[in-house]
Amino acid sequence: MGIQCTVYPSHDDASRAVADCISTILREKPTCVLGLATGSTPLEVYAELVRRHQHTGLDFAGASTFNLDEYVGLPPEHPQSYARYMNEHLFGQVNVDRDRTHLPNTRADDLGQSAQQYETLVRSAGGVDLQLLGIGTNGHIGFNEPGTAEDSVTRVVDLAASTIRSNSRFFEDESEVPRQAITMGISTILSARKIVLLATGQSKADAVSAALSGPVTRDNPASFLQNHADVHFVLDEAAAALVPGHCRCSRTT
Ligand code: F6R
Repeated sequence: MGIQCTVYPSHDDASRAVADCISTILREKPTCVLGLATGSTPLEVYAELVRRHQHTGLDFAGASTFNLDEYVGLPPEHPQSYARYMNEHLFGQVNVDRDRTHLPNTRADDLGQSAQQYETLVRSAGGVDLQLLGIGTNGHIGFNEPGTAEDSVTRVVDLAASTIRSNSRFFEDESEVPRQAITMGISTILSARKIVLLATGQSKADAVSAALSGPVTRDNPASFLQNHADVHFVLDEAAAALVPGHCRCSRTT
């Protein structure tokens, strides 16, 4: 199977396609384990899942979730923490069992041990059935910044300067952006049974093209996805603009 790539006319169309993948697995395997991402890109995916829960009874009651990452130094109630993001955009609006929702604990005294425990927890839940990813303009997935090894696991990382700059749009000032996070590693992500990467907008075009058609290299951590058996890149036209023709992305109109 390898990498499949589908291009949609708009961000909303691409978001609905990702919501379809998540809805399908929730119906086929009600006790599925979902790997979830934050950031601007999946907001419409979560909004669509909430709508489906409200209007069609999409059921999260048996599902477990593991988020990719969390900032170090932000309490869960902080407006920019990923815990708060997930509560606002998904968990607080659907019938997921809160005891089965997980984010890395970045408040522990021993962050290294906390990261190791998260890795163990993901694996002891049976691994992730469907992992949702975004991609950074520098090719990061989770907070696995350029230079990350393929065998990396959940751990404490320093954020790249470009990530701090990019994420400063969510904060009053760049100085407020945390410098560290706990993130699942590349090997944690690659152990998911199915991976869906959503990328939209022109700013992602370079990273997407390198991930799909460039060499598999630490310089673009998303390129390690080429080594996975079941990855689906879901793109809008702008994010797909630089993908070479030989990649044969299918297009929907
Ligand atoms: C978020 C995450 C990151 C984002 C990436 C893109 O949990 O792990 O890798 O997916 O930084 O962010 P946006 O969607 O804001 O462009």
